[in-house]
Amino acid sequence: MEKVNQVYEGKAKKVFSTEDENLFIVSYKDDATAFNGLKKGTITGKGIVNNKMSNYLMQILEKNGVPTHFVEEINDRETIVKKVSIVPLEVIIRNVSAGSFAKNYGVEEGITFPEPTIEFSYKNDALGDPLINEYHAFALGLATKEEINTIKTMAFKIDEILKEYFKNLGVRLIDFKLEFGKTADGTIVLADEISPDTCRFWDINTNEKLDKDRFRRDLGGVEGAYQEMMKRVFGE
Ligand code: TMP
Repeated sequence: MEKVNQVYEGKAKKVFSTEDENLFIVSYKDDATAFNGLKKGTITGKGIVNNKMSNYLMQILEKNGVPTHFVEEINDRETIVKKVSIVPLEVIIRNVSAGSFAKNYGVEEGITFPEPTIEFSYKNDALGDPLINEYHAFALGLATKEEINTIKTMAFKIDEILKEYFKNLGVRLIDFKLEFGKTADGTIVLADEISPDTCRFWDINTNEKLDKDRFRRDLGGVEGAYQEMMKRVFGE
């Protein structure tokens, strides 16, 4: 399958149309941004890690009954996905306090919650992806109530599957961001990516950060962290 036209370029990926009107090709870049694009950089090899890891995790999720946009990996950086219209919500699940949760609510990082939390941001760069609740999402017409309920159920199920999966690799799944899309027939599927760009991963023994926080916070060892996660998932 060949790329026909570029239909979208995001901060970390490009999306192309194909000869099949129901399929897109996603191409992962090494570009990294943080703080709504304010901080820019390159993480060498990131596109390959994110493409391969995301595809692998989506196949695990599919096996566990979670529908995703994944169709077929073409090469290290490119994947065929179902064409979806993205629901403009960033869905964030947290198992442990970190990042904006710790900052907004004045708690330290690393507190394990009694049960996972969910929150939504309105995916809108001009507004800086503001936090919203599900009533706001419905009021803004971003999704129907039924769709929001489906998304919540899927997000918590994904958390259960991935938490267990990463635990076996010696990784704590602290939090992550999901995006969902709607296929032509209206089915909600998991879209976008699941990668060190969109998850917080801490080593289970040392709590060493193995994700994009190393870039956001100038901790050094950014490429090494992505490669370490690749190694945990795929072995040597
Ligand atoms: P936060 O603590 O900064 O709100 O981030 C929560 C999770 O969402 C974390 O795993 C990183 C991920 N995330 C994204 O994937 N994209 C974003 O734009 C932001 C702000 C966070």
